[in-house]
Amino acid sequence: MKKRQFLMAAIALAAASVAQAQDPIKIGLIVPMTGPFASTGRQVENNVKLFQALNGSTVAGRKVEVLLKDDAGVADTTRRLAQEMILKDKVSVLAGFGLTPLAFSTAPIATQSKTPMVVMNAATAVITERSPFIVRSGFTLPQVTAPAAEWATKSGLKRVVTLVADYGPGLDAEKTFVDSFKQGGGEVVETLRVPMANPDFAPFLQRVRDAKPEAVFVFVPSGMGASFMKQFAERGLAQAGIRVIATGDVVDDDLLNDMGEAAVGVISAFHYSAALPSAINKKYVADYAKANRGERPNFHGVGAYDGMQLIYEGLKKTKGEGGQALIDAMKTVSFESPRGKFAIDPKTREVVQEVRLHRVERMNGQLFNVPLSNAANP
Ligand code: PHB
Repeated sequence: MKKRQFLMAAIALAAASVAQAQDPIKIGLIVPMTGPFASTGRQVENNVKLFQALNGSTVAGRKVEVLLKDDAGVADTTRRLAQEMILKDKVSVLAGFGLTPLAFSTAPIATQSKTPMVVMNAATAVITERSPFIVRSGFTLPQVTAPAAEWATKSGLKRVVTLVADYGPGLDAEKTFVDSFKQGGGEVVETLRVPMANPDFAPFLQRVRDAKPEAVFVFVPSGMGASFMKQFAERGLAQAGIRVIATGDVVDDDLLNDMGEAAVGVISAFHYSAALPSAINKKYVADYAKANRGERPNFHGVGAYDGMQLIYEGLKKTKGEGGQALIDAMKTVSFESPRGKFAIDPKTREVVQEVRLHRVERMNGQLFNVPLSNAANP
């Protein structure tokens, strides 16, 4: 038997060994805690802790234990950690997955071991098709791009350039924007893709400038938005009359406040903003701030917080049973979340949610993505 085949067989066997009812239910949480995407891991860790602090760590009479591992954003590491946690730690659920390649690399492990895998962050549309054991608590790029394109059309924009990170979610965003904007009668003048390794926006921003569009539609993963906005401002594109339309990743709540004036006026479409005025979100933002030195939760954070609720609700239904029973139970979960109504589509195991438009504005001296319906200058 090849090493890999042997490992797969061992994983299937380990998963088949029945856990005792009094054993804790273990969740293997794998996220980047170091490297360029460490802010995702920090948000996930803080939110999993907050969820358990507020909701307890016992479900259906069983203790729920979270084991956190750092994959540093490296796909081979994510897969190895998932294998180890299934074989050695006997986790019942895998969760986290800060980037698309990390979710892709682990999907076969979830299938082989029949372990439910809750994708809290990675957002390429096809991820849920990679294993029948995957369920998503975050979002997809097509979900959050379509309203941005519709806004551009309705606002009478005719010439737009798209600029996306050159991998799964970026290509989803580009396709969704181009298809919708063209259908609405607009022209996409150029489609630019920025490499993920050492992203330097300068040459791409020069091409945006030369194309003289009315706006640039942007997707970059969280963590990269600040350097995009900084270079956009430094190169005078705003003064040249070019607007920014984006997915909320670019003006991420985690980094927005440090982006300064350059970000004011950016229109984004997203499923979460810390400025949502609902009572449940106000309490959530206050609870998060209290537990985390006054900081804000962002969309990755809410993906983790709701992912925990999804797991808890599923375990309540199965009375603590994992495997196929748990994934089936999670398919029918719905609840009220800080982002609004949260539900899982039982056919696709995909999150169903409202996506809103936001405008960056200053509120009480801080920058926020204010829902357009509440914004001062929509
Ligand atoms: C992804 O890799 O799927 C990803 C990461 C960060 C985002 C969006 C998508 O903000």
